[in-house]
Amino acid sequence: MTDKPQNAAQANLGLSGAQPSSGEALDAQENWWRTAVIYLIYTRSYADSNGDGIGDIQGVIAKLDYLSWLGVGAIWLTPVTPSPNDDFGYDVSDYFGVEPQLGTMDDVELLIAESHARGIRVIFDIVPNHTSDRHQWFVESRSSRDNQRRDWYVWADSAATGGPPNNWVDHTGRSAWEWDARTEQWYLHNFLVSQPDLNWWNEGVCQQFDEIFGFWFAKGVDGFRIDVTQGLIKDSELRDNPPADDTDHPDVAARGQKYVYNLNRPERHEILRRWRALAREYSPERLLYGESYVFDIPSLAHCYGNDDECHLGLNVPFLLSSWSAPALSAVVAQCEKVLPSSAWPCWTMSTQDESRFTTRWCGNNPQAARCALMMLLTLRGTPILYYGDELAMPDTEVPEALMTDRMANPPVRISRDFERTPMQWSSGSGGGFCEAGVVPWLPFGELDTCNVESQRADPDSALHLCRELIQLRAASPALHSGPYRALPSPDGAWVYLRGSEFAVALNMSEHDVEAACPDGKVVISTLRSHDGRVVDGGATMLSPYEGIVLAVAETS
Ligand code: NOJ
Repeated sequence: MTDKPQNAAQANLGLSGAQPSSGEALDAQENWWRTAVIYLIYTRSYADSNGDGIGDIQGVIAKLDYLSWLGVGAIWLTPVTPSPNDDFGYDVSDYFGVEPQLGTMDDVELLIAESHARGIRVIFDIVPNHTSDRHQWFVESRSSRDNQRRDWYVWADSAATGGPPNNWVDHTGRSAWEWDARTEQWYLHNFLVSQPDLNWWNEGVCQQFDEIFGFWFAKGVDGFRIDVTQGLIKDSELRDNPPADDTDHPDVAARGQKYVYNLNRPERHEILRRWRALAREYSPERLLYGESYVFDIPSLAHCYGNDDECHLGLNVPFLLSSWSAPALSAVVAQCEKVLPSSAWPCWTMSTQDESRFTTRWCGNNPQAARCALMMLLTLRGTPILYYGDELAMPDTEVPEALMTDRMANPPVRISRDFERTPMQWSSGSGGGFCEAGVVPWLPFGELDTCNVESQRADPDSALHLCRELIQLRAASPALHSGPYRALPSPDGAWVYLRGSEFAVALNMSEHDVEAACPDGKVVISTLRSHDGRVVDGGATMLSPYEGIVLAVAETS
C-alpha cells in the first residue's frame, strides 16, 4: 500500500501551498473536481472506531489509506454537525459543532489534515433548507409571534376556510404544515415535521449561512454538497400547487401535485450565486455540488446558472433512469446537448436516498454491475461513487423491526435503510465495520460474499476493476474530459467514443451482441480474460453484460 497520490486529481491538490506556475496549472488546480472521482460516505455506516455500532469520523480516518489506494480524489461525508438524528444529520441542531456520536472538532481537523496529506479533498454536507425543530433558532422562533427569530422560519395563518394555509405536501406525502397551538400559526416543513423550513426571504438567515460556510472553509473544507437546493425559497404568496398530471415524473405524480410554489422557485438562483461568490472569495478551488432534485435535464441545467451557481449538480434523470442502453444513452445525449458548455456533467448511480444500482438496475447480477461501473467511470464528467459501489454491494433487506428511516413514503419508498447498511470490510463478526460482537446500527448485508478484504485479494473482483478504471481514467485526459460521441449501437448495447483515443462498448443485455466499433486493443474488459484482445474488422462480439474500453488503433 502506498500514500503516493494515485491520480491526477490527488496530484493536483495544492500540496504544501505551492503556487501554480502557469495558467494551465492554475486551471487544473481550480478545476480539480472535473478529473476527480468523488466518493460519498454515509458517515454512520463507514467504520466504527469506538465500539458503539455507529460509524464515525475516526473510522473514516482509519480508512483513508484504502481510499487513497482506490484512487478517489475527494470524499463527501453526510452531515457531521449535531443532530437529534430524526433524519441522521439532515436535521441540524448546531451548524458550528460536531455530532458527539460521530466525533469531535479535533477529529474533523485531523480528518481534513490526513485527507489532504494523501491528496484527497474533503467535501462536507450543508443543510440550508431546514433545521431540526430542536435548533435554538427554531426554539426561539416558535416561542412567540414577536420573537426576533420568528421570521427565520415560514409561518402562516390558517386558510380562510380553516386548516393549513395551502395544499403543499411534504416528502412523506402529508400536509407540509404543522399547527403550533401556542402561537396559533402553522409552520412549513417540506420534510419531517421535526425539520422546519428556514425562510430564505429573511436577510438574517442569509447572513447566518455566509458565516457557516466561512467557518468550515476556514477549517480547510474543500467544498460543500448543498442539500435540497431546489427547495431554498418558497413562493412569497404561498400559492397552492397545481395538480400533477400524466406528464409528471411518477415521484411527483405520487404526491398528486406539481412542485411549482414550494420548490424550484427562481429566486433560489440569487442565493446560489451569493454562495458561489463567497466560495470563490475563500479560494477558487472551493467546490459547490448542489443537490438539485429535479426530474429533467433542462431544470438540472439551471442549477449551474451561468457558470456562477453550483459547479456540479446531482443528475437525477441519470440516477433514476431505467437500466437499458437506450434509456441511459438518451439521458447522456440530452445532457451533452442541453447543458451549457461551462456546465460540467456529473454522474451517480446510487445515493443514501435511492436503492443501490447493483440491486435497482442490475437485479444483483454481478456482471451487469461491472458493466454499470464501467459506464460510470468512462463518461465525460465527474463520477460520484457511493460507498460500497466499488464492491458492487447490493441493498440489504432490513427487517421492519430494525428499520430506522422516518421518511418512509410508500409506495414511492418503503425505507432508505436498505442502501445505508454498514460498509462491508471483511467477513466474520463485526464485518471490519465494528468490533466483533458489537451490534451495528443497521444490520450487515452478505458479508461473506461481498467484502473489501476478499475483493482486494482477488484481481478479478469488482473492486480491482473499479480501481483500474479509476487509474486509467485519471491517466487519460480523453477519458475524463475528451468529447463524448455515441456510435450506432445494436439492440442492447451502447457504443461511444471518448476523444479519438478510446471507444467504450457496453452490452447491457443478457444476450451476446455483435457491436460495430473501431479497431484497436481492449485495455480493460469487465471479463478480465478478454483484456488485451485485439479488435479488427470493425466489430466485436460482446458477452452478456460485457463492457470494454478499447484503445483505438491509430489507423482506425
Ligand atoms: C437529501 C438527503 O440526501 C436526504 O437524506 C435527506 O433526508 C433530505 N435531503 C432532507 O434533508
